[in-house]
Amino acid sequence: MLTKAPRGTKDITPKDAYKWNYVEKKFRDICALYGYEEMRTPVFEHTELFKRSVGDTTDIVQKEMYSFKDKGERDITLKPEGTAGVVRAFIENKLYADTQPTKLFYITPCFRYERPQAGRQRQFNQFGLEALGSDNPSIDAEVIALSIQFFNEVGLKDLAVSINSVGCPTCRAEYNAKLKEYLDAKVDVLCETCLDRKDKNPMRVIDCKNPTCQENLTDIPYMIDHICDDCSTHFEKLKEYLTEMDVNFVVDKSIVRGLDYYKKTAFEIISNDIGSQSTVCGGGRYDGLVEQLGGPKGVSGIGFAIGAERLLLTLENNDIEIENPKSTDIFIATIGDHAKTKSFKLLKELRYNHISADNDHLDRSMKAQFKYSDKINAKFTVVIGEDELNNDSVTLKDMRASEQTTVKLSELVDELKKRL
Ligand code: HAM
Repeated sequence: MLTKAPRGTKDITPKDAYKWNYVEKKFRDICALYGYEEMRTPVFEHTELFKRSVGDTTDIVQKEMYSFKDKGERDITLKPEGTAGVVRAFIENKLYADTQPTKLFYITPCFRYERPQAGRQRQFNQFGLEALGSDNPSIDAEVIALSIQFFNEVGLKDLAVSINSVGCPTCRAEYNAKLKEYLDAKVDVLCETCLDRKDKNPMRVIDCKNPTCQENLTDIPYMIDHICDDCSTHFEKLKEYLTEMDVNFVVDKSIVRGLDYYKKTAFEIISNDIGSQSTVCGGGRYDGLVEQLGGPKGVSGIGFAIGAERLLLTLENNDIEIENPKSTDIFIATIGDHAKTKSFKLLKELRYNHISADNDHLDRSMKAQFKYSDKINAKFTVVIGEDELNNDSVTLKDMRASEQTTVKLSELVDELKKRL
């Protein structure tokens, strides 16, 4: 047990860490292009925050949260998603008082107690962003375009973008009444979860994967067919902006999303390569959430989150390789104790000149040191022994060209600067 990580968690070893660095940097770079700045919020928050935002009746809040009482008897939860914390921080730090919109991104671990499978973990990572302070559909188009540019630049071009409108409080109330009426007539065929959802959160029935529900609810009314004029104008404008940017999208009426805060735009980006866990990005608008969490009235918001594990899995399944940038410039092979001691001055000088350098820490033979130099992909190997020290000259081997030259020890750093 001590040598096994908890179920649903994964180590990221150096074999993969460079890939994470690559995609994280790409996400940061793309966010910067669109004017999004980084926001870091705590890994845990008050449990109430998620109940109020994600929603009491959602699977996340009901079944999946890592919640506990801390030693001060506070109800604490490890964040199951990034939006709630960012909105809380937006209010607490009064970011709404600055010029709007406030455009924020984050890279964060999240925690959900789910059944682990490929692309689904209990600790996973989200690349997310939130744009607060504008209810204009142009910002909906912007966040969708940003995510697509990010996916494109990491090598994924073949993605399905699905958008929907889940209405606003005005039209949702009317729709919910219609939907409830419809579902009341179907109580005989609804699964237990849907019977419960029917009264508490009827729209979530659309997301049910139970085959009996799916078979019997084919004529279920969809929100988008009942949205008000305001929601409709918003959605039409969004489509117009996306079309202008040549974004290939489809309207998928069945997108309801598993979190309660969504209003108007909801969207998902799908990759078909990794089986059932194919949604690499999900997001939408959450007008009203700022006020609901105690912030000022009328501050809108929209954002998305990309599942980083799913992204990397998709890249792998598409044979998109990320180059490992690791390579050592210089390996210093030494013969004898005196040479090893003296090599430290050179190592320091190289590293202070930002030339990466390594040496032997296992008292290997010369042959084994060269083998190691090969393994770490060193560009040059410098050989220092007693003779080399006495004559102020070292052997410099260009590992790629397999060529050897003699260089004055005192001139070595300058020589390497020229050659690297
Ligand atoms: P979400 O759809 O719950 O949305 O999660 C976003 C993405 O996180 C999913 O599409 C998926 O790629 C990834 N994900 C979710 N659960 C897991 C898991 N157990 N293991 C691996 N990856 C997972 C949200 O979290 C919203 N906060 C997104 C948002 C931001 N909406 C507005 N702003």
